[in-house]
Amino acid sequence: MTSQIRFLICPPHYYDVDYVINPWMEGNIHKSSQERAVEQWDKLHHILKEHAIVDIVPPQKGWPDMVFTANAGLVLGKTVVLSRFLHKERQGEEPYFNQWFEDNGYTVHELPKDLPFEGAGDALLDREGRWLWAGYGFRTELDSHPYLAKWLDIEVLSLRLIDERFYHLDTCFCPLANGYLLYYPPAFDSYSNRLIEMRVSQEKRIAITEADAVNFACNAVNIESIVVMNKASEPLKARLAEVGFRVIETPLTEFLKAGGAAKCLTLRVTEPVREELHANVSVESRVFNLEGHLLDSGLINRALDLIVDNGGSFQVLNFSLGEQRQSTSAAKVKVSAPSHEVMESIISHLIDLGAVDLPQDERDAKSEPVIQAGVAPDDFYVSTIYPTEVRINGEWVKVHNQRMDGAIAITRTPKGIVAQCKLLRDVEVGEEVVVDVLGIRTIRKTESREKRNAEEFSFMSAGVSSERRVELVVEQVAWELRKIRDGGGKVVVTTGPVVIHTGGGEHLAQLIREGYVQALLGGNAIAIHDIEQAMMGTSLGVDMKRGVAVRGGHRHHLKVINTIRRYGSIAKAVEAGIIQSGVMYECVSNGVPFCLAGSIRDDGPLPDTEMNLIKAQTEYARLLKGADMILMLSSMLHSIGVGNMTPAGVKMVCVDINPAVVTKLSDRGSIESVGVVTDVGLFLSLLLQQLQKLTSPYTAKVS
Ligand code: ARG
Repeated sequence: MTSQIRFLICPPHYYDVDYVINPWMEGNIHKSSQERAVEQWDKLHHILKEHAIVDIVPPQKGWPDMVFTANAGLVLGKTVVLSRFLHKERQGEEPYFNQWFEDNGYTVHELPKDLPFEGAGDALLDREGRWLWAGYGFRTELDSHPYLAKWLDIEVLSLRLIDERFYHLDTCFCPLANGYLLYYPPAFDSYSNRLIEMRVSQEKRIAITEADAVNFACNAVNIESIVVMNKASEPLKARLAEVGFRVIETPLTEFLKAGGAAKCLTLRVTEPVREELHANVSVESRVFNLEGHLLDSGLINRALDLIVDNGGSFQVLNFSLGEQRQSTSAAKVKVSAPSHEVMESIISHLIDLGAVDLPQDERDAKSEPVIQAGVAPDDFYVSTIYPTEVRINGEWVKVHNQRMDGAIAITRTPKGIVAQCKLLRDVEVGEEVVVDVLGIRTIRKTESREKRNAEEFSFMSAGVSSERRVELVVEQVAWELRKIRDGGGKVVVTTGPVVIHTGGGEHLAQLIREGYVQALLGGNAIAIHDIEQAMMGTSLGVDMKRGVAVRGGHRHHLKVINTIRRYGSIAKAVEAGIIQSGVMYECVSNGVPFCLAGSIRDDGPLPDTEMNLIKAQTEYARLLKGADMILMLSSMLHSIGVGNMTPAGVKMVCVDINPAVVTKLSDRGSIESVGVVTDVGLFLSLLLQQLQKLTSPYTAKVS
């Protein structure tokens, strides 16, 4: 024995794998050898005794996991926070450990019932005693962390575990002497990794491989310069040697079958207190009211999943069930997050879901003045596609010009308060911008089962359509197009050049001619290819009738550009009779406005192409105003641009052969968007056939 460090251990008389409460135990029930376990444990005991003082807590029959004394509680100085096991399989160990602590003069704190915390398995002191690293995500509840800070008077840094193989913090994280840290980064979420990197400098972080991690290399006992563990790879031993640590390997394979190794089998019961340090905990909690069709629309599941997926934890304090099918339910949910930053991101996601309400006293939105034109205050709220309201002086004010990725600008006029979504570059001095996430709500369409079924022709719920669904979508789109046209509505088409290559040009032209399109958005290329086809029968030099490249055909493209440039604009070329058919021809002849947005790879460009992108974005937004439906035809760039400018509630149909584009656009979470993965030429031809079949939209029968 060389130090005053003490460990508490528990002999494995009753050790076995009797149940499954972690992935390591699966398939291992009664598969560990009692004899070998005793032998391995004795060896560990022997090593510990050479370097520290060892105390023994008597094992208890019926509590096989009691050997893992790391889970007895968390000790700092003479204070202990007793574990509250998550699983009933281990809860019976609590009184025995409690007894030992009391008998040995510790002050024991017990957490409220139903607030799991698994002791030093999930809470590890920095070896310099500067702070406590505390895990959550599997066994320990985040809400226990503030208690640790309070009772132990120490700063608590919360780390979220995300890999169920590493369900306790000590299975993947091991603070070492001199500020070193042995850990397995993929076991943590990105926020936690960032926190670790902020606190432990690069030279002090020793990240291990998965192969070492599954051998429980992080589950190590560090006593000054020695590190005791089940097994380490040569490179890991070398890395540790470089910074002055000597690894002592001692096989603990029988205990691995229960999901534990060296560190789990020990509890360090002497942890010096640093008097100059005090509690600090960044865990934040808030109570929310959720209201709506919580159950039958799945809203409650989505809300709770979202809290956990974003690094928080929750407790449902109250739930009142709407008993009638049409009545709504209400839930009171306490949300905790490891930091203010994480809390903000959780709240903004909850706002997107709609139905979230903060308690009365914190309802008004916060805002800050713009002090530099075109720059929003830090921490500005990022707008979404959903209709939004902000609460100012106790009143909910509707936000105008809803779009995503903007800021909410507030102007106080003599007539009242005006709130609108603005691009960052457009915010002006004299305006205020909404910051933080308080006092903001979104109004989401009710998605009760009743409603969904009531709208006979409800648009398909968001989703990517596979081959078999293409026809059904085409029928729906045709029906909608007819209804919008006949009702004097507005359809905007965004299109890429593929429409022309795939032979869809004539169909799109026909749609325009027949009054189904009220504005066209695209780039330089779609117009050139379309005009090339109209003038020369080729698209990028390929004969559109025969599908073969025409000799010298690629020059067609540039000749077309040159010709249009000579006339000064597409409209003038149409007027002069140079262009006699096609998409652009129909736009000009039928007075359908279009905007061609330029890009770095444009040839020419055509005189009509707007190379000032800020102007092009503004023009797109202007043409999109009031749209009832947007047809997005094979253009990733223009479609995503348009998607960002468009509020929820506008029907969006995205057709692309590339599922990634379709998924991106139909993932807006808005029920009105539908994606179709198919050839756009084929889609347009089916669409026209379908439109021809419709005599009147109201007699159309769709199965
Ligand atoms: N079978 C035990 C459990 O699942 C193993 C505990 C390991 N202890 C630890 N500190 N990681 O609870």
